[in-house]
Amino acid sequence: MKGEFEHFMKKEIHEQPESVVQTMMGRVVKDMEGAASRVFLGGMINFVSTIRRSRRIVLCGCGTSYNSAIAVRQLMEELTELPVTLELASDVLDRRCPFFRDDTCVFISQSGETADTLKAMQYAKDRGALCVGIVNTVGSAISRSTDCGVHINAGAEIGVASTKAYTCQIVAMVLLSLSLSEDSMSLHSRRKRIMSSLLELPNAIRKALLLDAQMRELAKELKDENSLLLLGRGYNYATALEGALKVKEVALLHSEGILAGEMKHGPLALVDEVLPLIIVATMDDSYKKQESAVQQLRARGGRLILIVSEEDDEIAKTAGDKATIVRVPTVEDCLQSVVNIVPLQLLSYHLTVLRGHNVDQPRNLAKSVTVE
Ligand code: UD1
Ligand code: F6R
Repeated sequence: MKGEFEHFMKKEIHEQPESVVQTMMGRVVKDMEGAASRVFLGGMINFVSTIRRSRRIVLCGCGTSYNSAIAVRQLMEELTELPVTLELASDVLDRRCPFFRDDTCVFISQSGETADTLKAMQYAKDRGALCVGIVNTVGSAISRSTDCGVHINAGAEIGVASTKAYTCQIVAMVLLSLSLSEDSMSLHSRRKRIMSSLLELPNAIRKALLLDAQMRELAKELKDENSLLLLGRGYNYATALEGALKVKEVALLHSEGILAGEMKHGPLALVDEVLPLIIVATMDDSYKKQESAVQQLRARGGRLILIVSEEDDEIAKTAGDKATIVRVPTVEDCLQSVVNIVPLQLLSYHLTVLRGHNVDQPRNLAKSVTVE
């Protein structure tokens, strides 16, 4: 089952060029010239107009599935022009969150069996909200009990750490956002760019996987650390959170992902010559702000590791000679988080192996959390 790979996690990281193709299969429709022309989600066609008339969209999940919601929120707001809010499933139940009949609630789950997400879905359904599933496992409880949804078709994910499901969840929700904005003339060229970038995504992931050797070397440098700090913003806030979650859960190394905009409101006090700082600074609307964060962190002697766009010559200079630079291929801004997470998945894998921990079954964790 693991084929040439020693662990399921590694196999599943390396499957991502193919798994995102499976998510898009039959859903990104091409024209005669082979260019992507529209999105077709069989499970959503009868629900698109209801969702467009909703008062808001709520994205809800746990752990990595919640992080995928953070990654697509900005695009979903841009394309649907609706408010998109985020909810951790356990918190929906704790707060008895106000959900209404004119809400669309999207429940994201790899297993489709997570107790908190399932209960939050039942709670939303009881309040009359339209419940949509973004689920990997066909026939699972969430897939069966939502009103409609999209199977991400990532294939079975065995490693407890979610990797390919995360990137496929993002792709599935980008497709959903595209299908919800099909009628918008003003978004025509943006939608075209996203659709053509979707077709380039498998190759971009393939190129990012070539960073494996660099990530193994970086893991050797970081394996005895006590803590890592990851900083991202905009589309890549999710990358910082998800990268930190991966390192924490499998490498059993404390790591924290923060919104770079919050740096000065506390975390900056941690910066010294010892704490490794991983900064996601690929070229998008947040780039200039990330560059200035890099300047400030360098000025405080911070130990910098940067994830940057392969064509960017500028930010490496800002970071200085001591910084480690990880170059990733460029795709459309809203899809960049799919590429940027790959080196961090590889880093967490190598850290785990070097620290001698169980890769596929981390201590105390279960693949499917079926109790609250
Ligand atoms: C479906 C078939 C797929 C086939 C394709 C051909 C299934 C599971 N999928 O895919 O094998 O190749 O037609 O056109 O038979 N749903 C939920 N909640 C969820 C996920 C999905 O209610 O969390 C519903 C959808 O609304 C839909 C059904 O389940 O009614 C299947 O969803 P999906 O597999 O995403 O649909 P298609 O892509 O059309
Ligand atoms: C992290 C991880 C967990 C799950 C979470 C939700 O790698 O696997 O954080 O993402 O338990 O699980 P699903 O997506 O099955 O609802």
